[in-house]
Amino acid sequence: MSLPVKQTLADHMAQIRQDFPVLAQEINGHPLVYLDSAASAQKPRQVVEQESQFTLHHYAAVHRGIHTLSAEATARMERVRQQAADFIHAASAEEIVFVKGTTEAINLIANSFGRKFIQPGDNIVITGMEHHANIVPWFMLAETLNFEIRVIPVNTEGELVLTDLATLIDSRTRLLSFTHISNVLGTLNPVQSLIQQAREISQQCGGNLAVLVDGAQGITHQIVDVQTLDCDFYVFSGHKLYGPTGIGILYGKKALLEQLPPWEGGGAMIAEVSLTHGITYAGVPWRFEAGTPNISGIIGLGAAFDYLNQLGLDNIFAYEAEMMAYANQRLAEVDGLQLYGPSTREGVIAFNLGHHHAYDVGSFLDQYGIAIRTGHHCALPLMEHYAVPAMCRASVALYTTKEEIDSLVNGLQRIKKLLG
Ligand SMILES: Cc1ncc(COP(=O)(O)O)c(C=O)c1O
Repeated sequence: MSLPVKQTLADHMAQIRQDFPVLAQEINGHPLVYLDSAASAQKPRQVVEQESQFTLHHYAAVHRGIHTLSAEATARMERVRQQAADFIHAASAEEIVFVKGTTEAINLIANSFGRKFIQPGDNIVITGMEHHANIVPWFMLAETLNFEIRVIPVNTEGELVLTDLATLIDSRTRLLSFTHISNVLGTLNPVQSLIQQAREISQQCGGNLAVLVDGAQGITHQIVDVQTLDCDFYVFSGHKLYGPTGIGILYGKKALLEQLPPWEGGGAMIAEVSLTHGITYAGVPWRFEAGTPNISGIIGLGAAFDYLNQLGLDNIFAYEAEMMAYANQRLAEVDGLQLYGPSTREGVIAFNLGHHHAYDVGSFLDQYGIAIRTGHHCALPLMEHYAVPAMCRASVALYTTKEEIDSLVNGLQRIKKLLG
């Protein structure tokens, strides 16, 4: 649905929630309160219908066929590539690589960019608030390439400490890789200024670093313009953006992608294969897309872009900001609740209740139909930073309501009353 001018998402929430049938159910005898969208967002019927319409009536393998169905499927897939480019304001669709998700995108960059540009003795810079997807691939690579991984620290408020950036970046720094928004704390990092500062420091000491932004959480709460941000890579997953699982986007500046070797080999990524003359690769982005892609997932992702564009990203983000403000205010009323992260959070609120383990709190809330995420959130370094084994995390999405936040608060107060 699209909103008439001057109307907000709140004015149409009942109708919007009908687009998400999964929300209209009872769990353990209570209405479902789904506050786990930062892990994976629910899908509107428009996404599922597009995907199944395509699979039932238009499906064919892409790229390798000249028959009509295959040509049409190829054209639809390439239209989604253009949609993705438009969504993040990339200069062209050739800068968009289809991947399985954020994790695969970062592994691709590690194995392609990393193996080409990082030498023993070099270093890369990450931060103390990264998801394991932006930590583990670099440690795996460092085992064979023997480079240093430097870390921008995080303060107690959950913000990056950037005062010593000039001591972390030097002429041997090849990459700065950091998250747009922390999946645990909701910290919105100063992406544009950090990139600018990092490039200046690097250039002053004769270096030339590339920048990767992990947009898994950023893409769902911010308008992203990769050209204004001036990042070299921006990566995200479809399933957090109300699209299907198993599909995601790797954006790379074309001039840089063109210098990168392929990561996986196979069909669809070659220009020529000869057992005697060797192999030449396809151009970008197809060089990075070996094998048959997740065709229906790509179609579903296209439908998710359409859905979000129709609602209007400004409308969505304004509504989410209102829900986050309400959640911050209501959660502050819960006695003994420890909140983590900055006072202004994007999309997620992490907390612990008194001495109770996050798993106990999450299990208790589940008895009341309230779904939150509990555990280390694939960010063990952050758990270490706060000296806790786990945290609870509630997240806000375009379909979250104040009533749902009230249910969470009531649930937490009930736990407090029963368990102390
Ligand atoms: C900040 C961040 N990076 C990376 C990932 C990994 O995403 P995926 O599992 O979709 O590859 C996540 C998922 O929670 C995330 O929140």
